[in-house]
Amino acid sequence: MTAQIEALEQQIRAEALDTAEAREAFRVRYLGRKSGEITDLMKGLKEVSSDERPAVGQRLNALRALAEARLAEADARLQETTRATAPRLDLTLPGRVPAAGSLHPITETLYEIERVFARLGFSIAEGPEIEDDFHNFTALGFPPDHPARDMQDTFFLRHGEDEQDVVLRTHTSPVQIRVMEREKPPLRLIVPGRVYRNESISYKSFCLFHQVEGLVVDKDVTFADLKAVLRLFAESIFGEGVRMRFRPSFFPFTEPSAEVDIYQPDPDHPDGGRWLEILGCGMVDPVVFGHVGIDAEAYTGYAFGMGVERIAMLRYGISDIRLLYENDVRLLAQF
Ligand code: PHE
Repeated sequence: MTAQIEALEQQIRAEALDTAEAREAFRVRYLGRKSGEITDLMKGLKEVSSDERPAVGQRLNALRALAEARLAEADARLQETTRATAPRLDLTLPGRVPAAGSLHPITETLYEIERVFARLGFSIAEGPEIEDDFHNFTALGFPPDHPARDMQDTFFLRHGEDEQDVVLRTHTSPVQIRVMEREKPPLRLIVPGRVYRNESISYKSFCLFHQVEGLVVDKDVTFADLKAVLRLFAESIFGEGVRMRFRPSFFPFTEPSAEVDIYQPDPDHPDGGRWLEILGCGMVDPVVFGHVGIDAEAYTGYAFGMGVERIAMLRYGISDIRLLYENDVRLLAQF
């Protein structure tokens, strides 16, 4: 037994306890409760003759104390290295700012348009997105079966046998009718809102989009007033150097009618840029006044309807309207 104790003592002194794993293996090997080598020797103590037992017992106790001391010394060293290599708190790092959202470019553009017209004395009106055929088409001079309805093929909603058609509105113009049914001139308002069309989807057309309608009705309102307001609008939104053009067009509810294009310089385009249509407009057709009981001899008016997405695309240089509906944060975070 004495020889065994001496051999173990040599071993214990020689162990290198430089990692947490080595320290744990050491503890199990020598002091483990079930089969640690020192533990086993202690269990064997009862077989030692009674006169030798006190001396051997003392040596065994000393051996255990040595093993424990080596563990304590290893613990101190390991703690020291953990402290030295642990990542320190760097007080110079910038704090973590919670990610804040931002307005969608469509909303941002809508607000900007509203601000411009508010300065020009326009008020804001709204109307339903689910419309009846009368307000969306008939009162605006689209008789049933008129081919101009095809320009705005729409989504029809289910309706009863004798009811008239119910549609997702194809433009904000029905709100012109709704306002004139309940208010009399002078009128000066805009109507921001969402509209729907059964369109073939492309870089510049989507099945839903936003419009801002404008309506001014008063005595002696002329096409010159319309042009002046739209030019002011375009300069406020796109800057003073904006290139815009009025193109003659047709709408059943305005006469004469025009469309307005904005020039978008584009170095990648063969012609160095392209014209993008942003709105339709014209003088309110007397047929419309007839539907809402406004005297077309006493009053004239103009109306316009602009596409908010097209304006956002021009303002922010977004090349494809579909990007505005994907809600990809990588795009949205840029605004
Ligand atoms: N409602 C028309 C459209 O969506 C635009 C328009 C509005 C034209 C008002 C003239 C007057 O195409």
